Amino acid sequence: MRAQALQLTGDFSIDALEYRELDVPEPGEGEVLVRISAASLNYRDLMVVRGHYNPRVQKPLTLCSDGAGEVVSVGKDVTTFQEGDRVVASFFLDWNDGPLQRNKPWPSALGEAQQGVLTTYRVLPTRALVRLPDQFTYEEGSTFPCAGVTAWNALTQFQPVDADSTVLLQGTGGVSIFGLQIARAFGARTIITSSSEDKLARARQLGASEVVNYRNTPEWDRAVSELTQKRGVTHILEVGGAGTLPLSLRAAAPGGLVAVIGILSGTEQPLSLLPLLMHSLQVQGIYVGSTAMLRDLVQFYADHQLKPVVDQVFPFAQAQDALRAMDKAGHFGKLVITLDDASN
Ligand SMILES: NC(=O)c1ccc[n+]([C@@H]2O[C@H](COP(=O)([O-])OP(=O)(O)OC[C@H]3O[C@@H](n4cnc5c(N)ncnc54)[C@H](OP(=O)(O)O)[C@@H]3O)[C@@H](O)[C@H]2O)c1
Repeated sequence: MRAQALQLTGDFSIDALEYRELDVPEPGEGEVLVRISAASLNYRDLMVVRGHYNPRVQKPLTLCSDGAGEVVSVGKDVTTFQEGDRVVASFFLDWNDGPLQRNKPWPSALGEAQQGVLTTYRVLPTRALVRLPDQFTYEEGSTFPCAGVTAWNALTQFQPVDADSTVLLQGTGGVSIFGLQIARAFGARTIITSSSEDKLARARQLGASEVVNYRNTPEWDRAVSELTQKRGVTHILEVGGAGTLPLSLRAAAPGGLVAVIGILSGTEQPLSLLPLLMHSLQVQGIYVGSTAMLRDLVQFYADHQLKPVVDQVFPFAQAQDALRAMDKAGHFGKLVITLDDASN
């Protein structure tokens, strides 16, 4: 038996990616072998492929951080998982719980510092695995680790969102749609922005309280101010980056949380600090989250009978098209690759 994988081997481009056959690894102490059924894409995967995330990344590199599948064999000492268990892997193999700590080694992430999960068989340590309840398909389960945990971390670990909160989501990609579902499930009021009227209509169907088209309304912070009777929003999932942060600081309520997550519009921009200090804002950097957060998020979705939003599923043989689709940004929620066509 051989494993199939999509790897970055040479040039940093989608076209240069290579399908390769690998030996199926044996699980060691504390590890299990997972037959990966589905992997979901994050914007980061596109950055890795293009060399924008880490130009010194070790090649060959199997892509993708987010995968779900079935345990097919276990290492000798493993008692917590067994063959047939359905699992999803954490983004970081060694950030188990608690906050990121400066005195601990920097946690290493799948699909960049560590080989990724866009492969039919992957050995993973049990400490980084979470059980996937039967109510989720593997495609759905594969969406939780990066986008889902990031939104969960931002909304629950610093100023926990509640029914008195008003949460602003930027755009309708993976992180923002998870944020919309989570905020709504906590009873919060939600405002979501998008460049597309069709996507705003879908966001309304998902329960968004208010919508703003940021293409037609470039000063969307003013629209948010009006929608909140000048109070501002209590939480912002800031995925836009340099181009949106100044507006986010103006849209936040006094004492509000601006969770700095993404860099879709770049990383550098002159910034007025006045709204930050005059409104006593909490500007909080977010770097995905721990295995414990993944476990809590999966349980939360199960308890609230929520389903992650999967926009499109691509066969493994068309994984490069999935990356091209991510680049075009026509998706709403998550893009997923199924590996069931590649397993033997
Ligand atoms: N810090 C972390 O731990 C962490 C974790 C996950 C993701 N991220 C980062 O967060 C960002 C989003 O990731 P993702 O995986 O959710 O991406 P994604 O699924 O590719 O989201 C893309 C969507 O973002 C929206 N968008 C793009 N530019 C925008 C702008 N200037 N203002 C508002 N919305 C904009 C667009 O929505 P519409 O089409 O609706 O306009 C676009 O479709 C990326 O920069 C990613 O690297 C960071």
